[in-house]
Amino acid sequence: MAQPITTLSEFIIEREKDFPFASGDLSQLLTSIRLAAKLVNREVNKAGLVNEILGETEQHSVNVQGEKQQKLDVYANERFINAMRNQGAVCGVASEENDAHIVFDHPVSAGGKYVVAMDPLDGSSNIDVNVSIGTIFSIYRRLNDAEVTVEDFLQPGSAQVAAGYVVYGSSTMLVYTTGNGVNGFTLDPSIGVFCLSHPNMRIPENGSIYSVNEGNYFDFPEQARNYIDACKKKKMSARYIGSLVADFHRNLLKGGIYMYPGTTAKPEGKLRLVYEANPLALLIEQAGGAATDGKQRILDIKPGKLHQRTPLFIGSKAMVEEAMRR
Ligand code: AHG
Ligand code: MN
Ligand code: MN
Repeated sequence: MAQPITTLSEFIIEREKDFPFASGDLSQLLTSIRLAAKLVNREVNKAGLVNEILGETEQHSVNVQGEKQQKLDVYANERFINAMRNQGAVCGVASEENDAHIVFDHPVSAGGKYVVAMDPLDGSSNIDVNVSIGTIFSIYRRLNDAEVTVEDFLQPGSAQVAAGYVVYGSSTMLVYTTGNGVNGFTLDPSIGVFCLSHPNMRIPENGSIYSVNEGNYFDFPEQARNYIDACKKKKMSARYIGSLVADFHRNLLKGGIYMYPGTTAKPEGKLRLVYEANPLALLIEQAGGAATDGKQRILDIKPGKLHQRTPLFIGSKAMVEEAMRR
């Protein structure tokens, strides 16, 4: 007999009662993320066919971090921002692709309780070569009812009320947490519905995969080099896609560690604290793993700037702890 299917929308409604500030608002917000994810998924899937989607923007624009914007970066950014603008629960969005946060003029009385920080398209250098890419999102309650300011986005990661990612891969999945465990949903393209496929995800306590851009090895601090050496001595498998979401997702399922240490030239590394490290850190802790910057827990860091970077060591608990001891 066929197994009963739980769809993402059924699951969100079912879990609403677990949420400490139970109201339909967070559910609505997740619904808008789900919709934008489907639209981006549709474009990602036809990227090889349609020129308007592949490559850099016509203006050869760069984002605030000086990185070239791909057309799909811009498309995904617009889709996610519009989806959130169109519903009342979100009063502001910060994105990798925008210098400053955006404020929506939703009156607080209309329920605008949340702000969302996101990396709309992660792994954009992989778009043109048909390799998995993703979206990462982080949700906070705003600090007060006054106007939304950057401070609403600069709360420590431990204050997140929900976080998740979408991976556009051999299948498309949406994985999220509201602080009560981690659940994964796979998009069934034939009906356009995300279905619960990975309930209560747990990362193995230990693993045999290490993911790092070893081209930077000689520029890494001694701690990271020592740990990488230890991984090799143990004959672990090196796996590095270059899309954080995809590397993270594989390691979550199989057990492993993802590292992006600082380098001599860039002591803070490359990854962004607010919309890359923090959401993934909440997910990994909820799945039984750990995330640090090499010295301290990611979720304890108080961000000073929206686009702040941080070194990141994230994955199976025993592996992250060993990397810290080196
Ligand atoms: P983004 O595409 O959002 O700018 O993120 C790219 C990030 C991350 O996805 C990936 O793990 C990392 O950059 C890869 O960097 P290197 O090419 O330096 O290894
Ligand atoms: Mn990214
Ligand atoms: Mn990005």
